[in-house]
Amino acid sequence: MTYEVMVLAAGQGKRMKAGKNKQFIELEGKPVIIHTLTVFENDPMCKEIKLVINEKEVPLFEALLESYGISKVSEMVPGGKERQDSVYNGLLRMENAEIVLVHDGARPFIRQEVIHRLVEKAKRDGAAIVGVPVKDTIKKVNADLLIEETVERAALWMIQTPQAFQYSILQKAHLQAKEEQYMGTDESSLVERIGMPVHMVEGDYENIKLTTPEDLIVAEAILKKQKAE
Ligand code: CTP
Ligand code: MG
Repeated sequence: MTYEVMVLAAGQGKRMKAGKNKQFIELEGKPVIIHTLTVFENDPMCKEIKLVINEKEVPLFEALLESYGISKVSEMVPGGKERQDSVYNGLLRMENAEIVLVHDGARPFIRQEVIHRLVEKAKRDGAAIVGVPVKDTIKKVNADLLIEETVERAALWMIQTPQAFQYSILQKAHLQAKEEQYMGTDESSLVERIGMPVHMVEGDYENIKLTTPEDLIVAEAILKKQKAE
C-alpha cells in the first residue's frame, strides 16, 4: 500500500505576520516545511512528494531540501492564487498516482500512524479525510452578533489535512469545481459536491495548522512532547 503526497507551501502566511512565508519559520532550529516533509520522507509507504510552492521561492526551497537531505521531492510545482488553484496545479503533475494525499506544509505534526489509517480508508472507499471532534460549543451568530442557534455538537468535527483520494475522484471533483467556478476551503468539499461519499478518519489534536503567531507557542510545546515520546 503506497501513496503520493502533494505538500502545499505556496501561500504567503499573511496571518502569521512573520514578514516571510511561514514555511520558513524555524521550530527548534528547523524550518516548518522541513518538519512536515520529514514525516513523509521517513514514511516507507510514501513513494513521492510534489512540493507546491511560489516560483519566486524555488531557490530557497531547493537549498533547504539539499541541506536537510530530503530526497523524495520529485518536483516543485508552481502554486496558484488560492489554495485550491495550487492543488489543481499539483494534480496536473500527478496523473499516474493511484492514491493522492493533499497536505498543508503548515501542519508539521501529522503522524505516520494517522496517515496509514487514512490511506487504507481511501484505498478501500475512494475518499477519506482526517479530523477531530469539536471540543467547544458552537453557535451560529448573525450580523448583529445575536445568537441564532446552538449547533448540535455531537455531529461536528474540525477538519485537518491530509485528505486522501483515489486520483480519478479528486480529478473529477476539481474539473467540475473549475467549470462551475466553485471555491471550497478543502478538497473534500469539492468531492462532496459531486456526490461521492467521503469518510472521516479520527486524527489527533496535535495536528494543528500554524496560522497565527500564538500557534508557534503551542507548536514548540507539541514538538517537545513528540520528541520525548
Ligand atoms: N497554500 C498554497 N497556495 C495558496 C495558498 C495557500 O499552497 N495559494 C498553502 C499554504 O502554504 C499552507 C496551506 O496551503 O501550507 C494552508 O493555507 P494557509 O494556512 O491559509 O496558509 P497561507 O495562505 O500561507 O496563510 P495566510 O492565509 O495567512 O496568508
Ligand atoms: Mg491562506
